[in-house]
Amino acid sequence: MLRLATPAAVASRWRRRALLRLGFLGALGLATTELGVLVAPFIRVNRIEGLGVPVTVGTKREILDRFAATNDRPILFREGRFFLLHAPSGIIAAYRKCTHLGCAVPWNDAEDRFHCPCHGSLYDKRTAVVLRTPAPKPLQLFHIAENAEGDLVVDTNPFRIIDRTEGRFDPSVIEITDS
Ligand code: FES
Repeated sequence: MLRLATPAAVASRWRRRALLRLGFLGALGLATTELGVLVAPFIRVNRIEGLGVPVTVGTKREILDRFAATNDRPILFREGRFFLLHAPSGIIAAYRKCTHLGCAVPWNDAEDRFHCPCHGSLYDKRTAVVLRTPAPKPLQLFHIAENAEGDLVVDTNPFRIIDRTEGRFDPSVIEITDS
């Protein structure tokens, strides 16, 4: 004989289902949060956003004098997201975005080279070529030009970069020579 469930039994079944659903969603949320916390340090990327604009950095003489006074310490232009480097026989502007996963690469005085904090890539002081992987290629370069007033202007538009794929320094990238 078919027995019909009482209203109280139906309500209790619904409550149980709702509780189970809530428990499942809670566990899912907790698992997602924990996974995020575990994975975040490995995928954390100090994103460099926004298109660049021309940045005036001073005259060639001023920049070369500064290099001469600091043993060629790279000069950071934080808002422009680049370093001026004293490459062999000229000045180049290195975009400080790591070519591995895009972290902002800082200069390290103690090591006398660039050291990416995310996964340990190292870049050369004067050329920004890779000294230690995982970075697959040198830091990209921005174009530099001298304007009518004699100031150097760095074009920080990331869509107009000089993308270097070779593991060694190619002097043909130098647009502003020492002489
Ligand atoms: S982002 Fe991975 S080494 Fe720089």
